[in-house]
Amino acid sequence: MTVTRCSPSLALLLVHGLSVSVLLASADPPGFLSLSCGGSTSFVDSGNNISWVPDGPYVTAGNATAANFVQGGSTSQLPLRFFADSGPGSRACFRLPVGNLPLVLVRPRFVYGNYDGMHRPPVFAVSLGRAIAGFVNLSQADPWVEEFVWRREKGAALPFCLHSVAGGGSPVISSLEVRPLPEGAYGTRLQEFGDNLLRKRFRINCGYVDDEPLRYPLDYHDRLWDADEGFSPSHLAAAFHIPVSFDLTGIKENPPASVLQTARVLARKTALTYNFPLDKLGDYYVALYFAGIMPVSSSFDVLINGDVVHSDYTVEHGKVGSIFFMGKKIESLNITFRNNSFYPQVNGIEIYEVLEVPVECSTTTVSALQVIRQSTGFDFGWEDDPCSPKPWMHVGCDGNLVTSLKLSDMDLGAITPTFGDLLDLKILDLHNTSIAGEITNLGTLQKLEILNLSFNKLTSFGSDFNTMVSLQILDLHNNSLEGAVPDGLGSLNYLHLLNLENNRLHGVLPQSLKKERLEVRTSGNLCLSFSSMCNNFSNHPSIPTPQVTVFDMERPLHSNRKTVIIAIATIGSVCFAILLILLAMIVQRRRRKEDDVISRTSREMQRWSAARIFSYKEIKAATNNFRDVIGSGGFGSVYLGKLSDGKLVAVKVRLDKTQLGADSFFNEVHLLSQVRHQNLVSLEGFCHESKQQILVYEYLPGGSLADNLYGSNSKRATLNWARRLKIAVDAAKGLDYLHNGSNPRIIHRDVKCSNILLDAEINAKVSDFGLSKQVLQVDATHVTTAVKGTAGYLDPEYYATQQLTEKSDVYSFGVVLLEMICGREPLSHVGPPDTYNLVLWAKPYLQADSFEIVDENIKGAFNPESMKKAASVAIRCVERDASHRPTIAEVLAELKEAYSIQLTSMSSEAT
Ligand SMILES: *[C@@H]1O[C@H](CO)[C@@H](O)[C@H](O)[C@H]1NC(C)=O
Ligand SMILES: *[C@@H]1O[C@H](CO)[C@@H](O)[C@H](O)[C@H]1NC(C)=O
Ligand SMILES: *[C@@H]1O[C@H](CO)[C@@H](O)[C@H](O)[C@H]1NC(C)=O
Ligand SMILES: *[C@@H]1O[C@H](CO)[C@@H](O)[C@H](O)[C@H]1NC(C)=O
Ligand SMILES: *[C@@H]1O[C@H](CO)[C@@H](O)[C@H](O)[C@H]1NC(C)=O
Ligand SMILES: *[C@@H]1O[C@H](CO)[C@@H](O)[C@H](O)[C@H]1NC(C)=O
Ligand SMILES: *[C@@H]1O[C@H](CO)[C@@H](O)[C@H](O)[C@H]1NC(C)=O
Ligand SMILES: *[C@@H]1O[C@H](CO)[C@@H](O)[C@H](O)[C@H]1NC(C)=O
Repeated sequence: MTVTRCSPSLALLLVHGLSVSVLLASADPPGFLSLSCGGSTSFVDSGNNISWVPDGPYVTAGNATAANFVQGGSTSQLPLRFFADSGPGSRACFRLPVGNLPLVLVRPRFVYGNYDGMHRPPVFAVSLGRAIAGFVNLSQADPWVEEFVWRREKGAALPFCLHSVAGGGSPVISSLEVRPLPEGAYGTRLQEFGDNLLRKRFRINCGYVDDEPLRYPLDYHDRLWDADEGFSPSHLAAAFHIPVSFDLTGIKENPPASVLQTARVLARKTALTYNFPLDKLGDYYVALYFAGIMPVSSSFDVLINGDVVHSDYTVEHGKVGSIFFMGKKIESLNITFRNNSFYPQVNGIEIYEVLEVPVECSTTTVSALQVIRQSTGFDFGWEDDPCSPKPWMHVGCDGNLVTSLKLSDMDLGAITPTFGDLLDLKILDLHNTSIAGEITNLGTLQKLEILNLSFNKLTSFGSDFNTMVSLQILDLHNNSLEGAVPDGLGSLNYLHLLNLENNRLHGVLPQSLKKERLEVRTSGNLCLSFSSMCNNFSNHPSIPTPQVTVFDMERPLHSNRKTVIIAIATIGSVCFAILLILLAMIVQRRRRKEDDVISRTSREMQRWSAARIFSYKEIKAATNNFRDVIGSGGFGSVYLGKLSDGKLVAVKVRLDKTQLGADSFFNEVHLLSQVRHQNLVSLEGFCHESKQQILVYEYLPGGSLADNLYGSNSKRATLNWARRLKIAVDAAKGLDYLHNGSNPRIIHRDVKCSNILLDAEINAKVSDFGLSKQVLQVDATHVTTAVKGTAGYLDPEYYATQQLTEKSDVYSFGVVLLEMICGREPLSHVGPPDTYNLVLWAKPYLQADSFEIVDENIKGAFNPESMKKAASVAIRCVERDASHRPTIAEVLAELKEAYSIQLTSMSSEAT
């Protein structure tokens, strides 16, 4: 049942169009907001002096109109706003400025009044915050009034939305009122039940007989109190109205004196019962008010649905009391006041339906989606929570988890690391989104079942499929995938559809894909089959045409050489052949014939640097035919090698069948040849023969910081706080050199624990410059570039703006520091959603100097001052706003101090 009486303010709304102008500054109590929906002028209700304003500033959608309203035989115009039905699922929202109010009453009034002449009253749903608050069916009552009590969570504006339902017509509303309620009101028992929203079902002023509800100014909070005559056997009890004044201290709900001064009092019978039809199974919250207006004290039992909830309840003259009760899973309600010694009585009753407020999405998910929205301008339809009250457009949810995301027919350009933050995704559809290059940044999506990347410009598989263990359907048709199909796809145990149609793949399909329940579609490729008929396809001569940006023209060649060259050049481009010969000449001096396939690129690279060029044969010998793997990842594998002079080296064989990563290969060789620093891994040389991309580094036997942090327990244990700080200082030195010491400046772009390597003495060195970028102009503050990096380490501001600065490295380095402090990875599925993202999770603890989240392995074994310093700098590094982050030089200085505090405290303990 809904309160449908016409209140004074409704009457006033009707006439304001007829120029009722009360000149008066608003004297409303603070926080009152009264919106006349579809109205065009402000006015004051002469009945209660409440000020009304047009709703325009609070809503962006809908059309203003007016309905004919018949009252007391005369017809007038009532303004209202309707939202043209744009299909089920569409919504229109008001944003109510509730500021810091702890608790508010929100009272919408919906009127159809046949404004469109169609005689089809609409049905629609309404929501407040994240909760669907109920349905409005204007066939059942017109006007329809609801009152909600909403407890503040956070955020300045409270969304109040009208949602279309299938076949429901256009949602419509005529007024919306916001009234603050006192702090702590109704909270006595409610808070035990977590987040909730109350929907008023009944609010009764017992013993009150007026047709119009009692409200402001009699109720300071402007609640509507109805007469109780409708509620059965009222004739049993007498209505009393005795003007006693009460001390209401302690009753936070602040019931109005006028309500308390009337009561139903049972004089001659044994029990008084109110029956409330609820018509819906749910949880209901009951508030009962008793005030001693009778000259004698009364005493009685209170029963709800037959159970005594308070026996021998006593009401003394001049005193006020209240009883609260939560009825769980009930669908009817009766309240009985049973004679015990004298005069059962009751003054006021409020009954609310308790609406569950859905849990909000994890901050990781919300920020990931916001980043996608900001960086692409993609319209998800609404703001606020992605799953509640209803999921955003293109988003699917299971509870508060975002489990599907479908973006298509837009320009994403690449699969950015943010997609890897949507850890709960089961379905990801990015078809026709212009994504190019490698399939990347999705390796963290371990729950993903359906991945649709069809109709894009993807060129290589990447290595993420190794970890996408739940994948069932992988649709890659109509892309530009090249080369062979990776063997790893066969290890996806649940895969049952692999669509590779219309790509440029060739070669024999891995036998691991030959499975009973797996359908592999291969048509429209160059030559792709399980049989060996495509075996030779990949052996066709193809001339590598790597893209190199730095290239000086050679001096003109001797003319008779030229003729020879042209003869040779029939196999490919003239330029390539010229270089081939040229290289052969130069290299022959140093080496023998074995080197005659060195590409022009290698030749050039040699000119950039002192780095040594290795032949594939040499590499093979040094690594003992690639025997000892010491690392592997998306880039390929790393092998231990021993050069002819006995020096140990790490040989990184890049997995790059399509030559697409060639840029990053050249980039790395180019950069590393220029920079030499004790805290940067040094490049011994490289090999770029035919399609091989091999980098030879100094060998660092200590492994990566990630190996040490997350490897075996013994490794973790040896990594005490002082060592962690030492590693941090070293890595910061390396980065400081890149940012400030080298010329041109270099931004690393992929700072992470697995790129910080340790030597035998636990000196740390930064490695992997494949993504690094030089800042060429002296005064450039940023470089605009496609976003690259690793999920979990990526600077959100860079992501959103694509403007790369040194501060992006600082952010990633901050994540590394947090990992060292907390001993956990930046993204993790373990635990509740709000712990997924290390940065968001750790920040509040560390900001409050609360070290409970420090890695168990170093707990109790660090100097608090040192930890405080390191934690503070880590937190500043991961500030969202890049301008608030320190420079790496500042970070280095702070870390040095933290380190020295730790060392001092250790040596003083030792003495
Ligand atoms: C409204 O304000 C006027 C002028 O201040 C006052 O005379 C009148 O009593 C007020 N009415 C109510 C219902 O408070
Ligand atoms: C509602 O207003 C929009 C513009 O604000 C207009 O295009 C549309 O036709 C209007 N709809 C109706 C049903 O009047
Ligand atoms: C709305 O109320 C009318 C009249 O009671 C009823 O016939 C109709 O089914 C209701 N519509 C919905 C969607 O509940
Ligand atoms: C009140 O509800 C209880 C339980 O639902 C029921 O047993 C009892 O008969 C009801 N009393 C009246 C007066 O309706
Ligand atoms: C109310 O209860 C008292 C004490 O049991 C009893 O004396 C009195 O008669 C009862 N009144 C009625 C109307 O039943
Ligand atoms: C891809 O999207 C564009 C618009 O961005 C559209 O014109 C085109 O038809 C779409 N292609 C497919 C295959 O869906
Ligand atoms: C992937 O999306 C395309 C384009 O909408 C569609 O044709 C194809 O069926 C989808 N693949 C799967 C497996 O659903
Ligand atoms: C998909 O690829 C096939 C073969 O290359 C081509 O005929 C077809 O037009 C492509 N479809 C789209 C929508 O690009």
